[in-house]
Amino acid sequence: MALSLQGLLRRGTQPILGVDVSASNVKLVELVPGGKTGMRLERYAIEPIERGAIVDGNVEKPEAVADALLRAIRRTGTKTRLAAMALPSSAVIAKRITLPAGLHEEDYELQVENEASQYIPFSIDEVNLDFQILGPAAQSDEDVEVLLAASRKEKVEDRVAIAEMAGLKPVVIDVEPFAARTSIDHVTRFLPNQGEGMILAVFDVGQSTTNLTVVLNGQTVFERDQTFGGSQLTQDIVRLYGLTLEEAELKKKSGDLPDNYASELLTPFVEQGATEVARSLQFFFTSTPFTRVDRIFLAGGCAVTAGLAEAVAERTQVPTEIMSPFQGMEVAGGIRERQLRLDAPALMVGCGLAMRRFDV
Ligand SMILES: Nc1ncnc2c1ncn2[C@@H]1O[C@H](COP(=O)(O)OP(=O)(O)OP(=O)(O)O)[C@@H](O)[C@H]1O
Ligand SMILES: [Mg+2]
Repeated sequence: MALSLQGLLRRGTQPILGVDVSASNVKLVELVPGGKTGMRLERYAIEPIERGAIVDGNVEKPEAVADALLRAIRRTGTKTRLAAMALPSSAVIAKRITLPAGLHEEDYELQVENEASQYIPFSIDEVNLDFQILGPAAQSDEDVEVLLAASRKEKVEDRVAIAEMAGLKPVVIDVEPFAARTSIDHVTRFLPNQGEGMILAVFDVGQSTTNLTVVLNGQTVFERDQTFGGSQLTQDIVRLYGLTLEEAELKKKSGDLPDNYASELLTPFVEQGATEVARSLQFFFTSTPFTRVDRIFLAGGCAVTAGLAEAVAERTQVPTEIMSPFQGMEVAGGIRERQLRLDAPALMVGCGLAMRRFDV
């Protein structure tokens, strides 16, 4: 289960929207009960955010972000007003600590506050604290391992303000890597033997960053961020063909570009992507005891870039697939399958947030 900040977590089956506010766009996902896995994708939208509205995870222009969220709400026609949102990991300090087993809830709260104050570089009054008991500690039966998360209140308030401006009420504030893990864990259930014993490397290739998460048996064993993403290709298109950023973004997706696009821009970008992936795996091997990866999943908006999955598979010699967080779910009739196939990998975090209504 993921962690929530601010004690906002609400259990139960109330309808909740997953709202992922990233650097380049707002992604909205609504899941409802239904289908074989108990979940049905009812509606989703991806709406671009005005450039410069979010910089390095900081909300610089809340109105512009709220505007994108409003467009997403209108486009989907959803009536749901409760939302699950996420903070970028840069806005959160997460730490595993060990505490005695069998304490009362209030005593854990006190202990967590006490521990947190030792390493948080600002006053405890300025942070939202949350914790989750992970299970018995490895070293001693009398202790439990506790995951503690702290974020600056203002970071949470920024997100809450955006939601409220768009008429939503945030009831869950998650952290992006945890929300991503919710989706990864869902997809893992469809692997042979439910992914047991498999080392899975998930690359989220976004607008400006690529995040690697390596998971084994439900544990994140490695994480790494790189600066590589789709804006590089978009900017190359702008330069080579003299287009605006908006035009370049559209044409990149539609493929409506001159003949030399593949050889001049697309192929070099794909090759660089494969190199970055291979380099990240090398970091994983050299900084952990692990020596292999069994499967690579590509997520994020760039996952569907023509030829990328093939180039990664070839370079790494690891079976590579494009991730759909909606695997095994029923899909509402109004959603076009072809478009969903292109959009799904970018919805890894949004889907993980939407799954919070099922409390998985
Ligand atoms: N169909 C597509 N084909 C190629 N590229 C695409 C497609 N759809 C989206 N992209 C690219 O994916 C990128 C956006 O991906 P995503 O939404 O995952 O990024 P983000 O989460 O906003 O950014 P970051 O993770 O870097 O903060 C953009 O560069 C966009 O051009
Ligand atoms: Mg992203």
